[in-house]
Amino acid sequence: MNKKISTLYFSATGTTEKVVSGITRKIAANGEGLPVQSINITLPKDRKESIFFTEKDVVIIGVPVYAGRVPNVLLNYINSINVSGALAIAVVVYGNRNYDDALIELRDILESKGFKVIAAGAFIGEHSFSKVLAKNRPDEEDMAVISQFANEIYRKISKKEISKALTVKGIKPYRSYYRPKNKEGISVDFRKVTPKTNHHCTDCKLCVHICPMGSIDLEDPSKLNGICVKCGACIKKCPAQAKYYEDEDYLRHKQELEIDFSERKEPELFI
Ligand SMILES: Cc1cc2nc3c(=O)[nH]c(=O)nc-3n(C[C@H](O)[C@H](O)[C@H](O)COP(=O)(O)O)c2cc1C
Repeated sequence: MNKKISTLYFSATGTTEKVVSGITRKIAANGEGLPVQSINITLPKDRKESIFFTEKDVVIIGVPVYAGRVPNVLLNYINSINVSGALAIAVVVYGNRNYDDALIELRDILESKGFKVIAAGAFIGEHSFSKVLAKNRPDEEDMAVISQFANEIYRKISKKEISKALTVKGIKPYRSYYRPKNKEGISVDFRKVTPKTNHHCTDCKLCVHICPMGSIDLEDPSKLNGICVKCGACIKKCPAQAKYYEDEDYLRHKQELEIDFSERKEPELFI
């Protein structure tokens, strides 16, 4: 197989990265050392440069599911990718609630850019809002499925079995963004909810450098200068546990998710 394998992913808390890297590593190993390139678009600086893929490329593209869809903060960037005849594998990673229409949306976006989508998968990652929902996933069992999936992809590419369009789960027209409800059953909008900072903050600035929206103020990391997408990076990665949310509806939603979706879901593969 004369191909270059690339991963392109957004991953605020690392679960999407683990899934797509696992797929990529295994495809490359099957191809006995095919060249591999990793394109991480999690930080704003990495979403500045547009990229180009040709018929020599196989690109594994991974995004987390936000509100049942592809994160809308990534749409401009994904739409700026230039493609001429490249193959793609569409991957979404969700926090054990549901991936709703994220995978079909990602497949459609990639096809509209000119990719030939030859395989797709929905995987489970620890939920961005929680340290218990889908805790530590993707885990060993997931990685075994990922390895098997990569083997099938490799076989499909080697045998050039890539003629028909790929069917994935999802509904068209896509359902609108999933909206959580408050205790009165009324839809709530978390866009204005922002992380707070407690006295454990050591001003190490890690959160400033890892915020995918570049929103945390360098001089005063308790201040926010832009939007917060509730990605969980500053909360989960702070070495001093200094970041937290206190919004009542957000915390209620988090708890509800942990209770209602505690049953383990399994990866779904389309190939
Ligand atoms: C704003 C937001 C919305 C989310 N919406 C969903 C959802 O609709 N369904 C779900 O199961 N998980 C949802 N999640 C959880 C993430 O999809 C999941 O935790 C994923 O593994 C995070 O990927 P990352 O570790 O690469 O950042 C959401 C997370 C965030 C931040």
